[in-house]
Amino acid sequence: MTQTVPVPQGLPMDRDAGPFDPPSDITRLREARPVSPMVFPDGHEGWLVTGYDAVRKVMADTRFSSRQDIGIIHVPYPTPGMPEQTEPSPQMPGLFISMDPPDHTRLRRMLTGAFTVKRMKQLEEGIVEIVQRQLDEMARLTPPIDLVKEFALPVPSLVICELLGVPYADRETFQSNSSKFMEKDVKLEDKMAAFGAMVGYLGELVTRKRAEPDEDMLSDLARNDDLTVEELTGIAFLLLLAGHETTANMLSLGTFALLENPSQAAELRADPDLMPGAVEELMRYLSVADIFFRYATEDIELGGETIPEGSTVVVSLLAANRDPQRFENPDTLDVHRTARGHLAFGHGIHQCLGQQLARIEMRAGFEGLLRRFPTLKLAIPADEVKLRTDMNIYGVHELPVTWTEAAG
Ligand code: HEM
Repeated sequence: MTQTVPVPQGLPMDRDAGPFDPPSDITRLREARPVSPMVFPDGHEGWLVTGYDAVRKVMADTRFSSRQDIGIIHVPYPTPGMPEQTEPSPQMPGLFISMDPPDHTRLRRMLTGAFTVKRMKQLEEGIVEIVQRQLDEMARLTPPIDLVKEFALPVPSLVICELLGVPYADRETFQSNSSKFMEKDVKLEDKMAAFGAMVGYLGELVTRKRAEPDEDMLSDLARNDDLTVEELTGIAFLLLLAGHETTANMLSLGTFALLENPSQAAELRADPDLMPGAVEELMRYLSVADIFFRYATEDIELGGETIPEGSTVVVSLLAANRDPQRFENPDTLDVHRTARGHLAFGHGIHQCLGQQLARIEMRAGFEGLLRRFPTLKLAIPADEVKLRTDMNIYGVHELPVTWTEAAG
């Protein structure tokens, strides 16, 4: 293995190769040393894994503990986005994304029934309706508008609120608090305060649901006496956050990518049957939930390197999904591609629980948007779009768009 690239000091985050491509330092590293040592901002050493095969192995191997990872949430590390200690983090009740078996198994099992493909299919009609309503509202506005505010964020927020039984009217409270976890540069105290506010709000909500269950997923879970109120709160927190931040960013960054690749968008408009495959390709190409942390519970051989016990291991799903050893012309968006096997929903025991729901939302969302707004285009130059390089889930902060005519 050649070792011609320097060991990264911190995680390369600068999107110097363009808004959709991995940082060029990450690409260089993957070509030269797909399992590489790295130095964290606090000076301790860890490992950065960027090659497809190695990333997949990490995600599949439970000797790489998730207790270092607060997953897509990255609850407060003192150094932005980076763990400081090399000890496993304390567990938060219910937050099973950062648990290992058997705790993870016990909690995930209680939710799998609620997230089956069949259950999600039953929700499809309601999701299509939510998308249509949002598009109707958008069509009544005078462009230019911000697509994030008017479409990409409301759709998944409405869907997850309805599914869980969280009043949509409370969204400002949980959205402003949740974006504080997702921000890398927020002070620890502020993250803790936002976390406290969110846990307080959800704790009250699940307590009410336990006392007076309704027709929603949190009520179903609250009926189960095997779950404590603290666990219910943690589960609600995880689902609410994971359920809207990720999908919202896929909808907005995905639209940006389609507008920048007009021939691909035109093909999708002409043949909606391409949509399911196109959604997988957009997932692969954009990998908005990119960086995940693991913790080596013993010495582990990986890609010709030995990862010592106690190491923090960082994987880049975006780098893996752009690995030319796995996908031909990986940096090209191609809606005809078979992107099966991409890792954008993770892999192994923590593979995304909400993936079917997310797929339904994205298919309905992109399909509706392309059909209703055939002349949709960016309202500002592409290089002025504000990228979420400061957030744990990548995407755009705003997407100003315009159109000449909306279809009825
Ligand atoms: C886990 C991505 C949508 C709920 C994950 C993981 C990834 C991911 C990469 C693996 C984390 C790990 O291994 O540490 C995404 C993306 C989405 C999306 C890109 C949208 C496009 C959703 C939705 C929900 C959801 C809509 C819920 C309604 C979860 C949960 C886990 C998870 C609960 C933890 C599973 C476990 O630890 O067993 N997601 N997700 N996600 N996701 Fe998603």
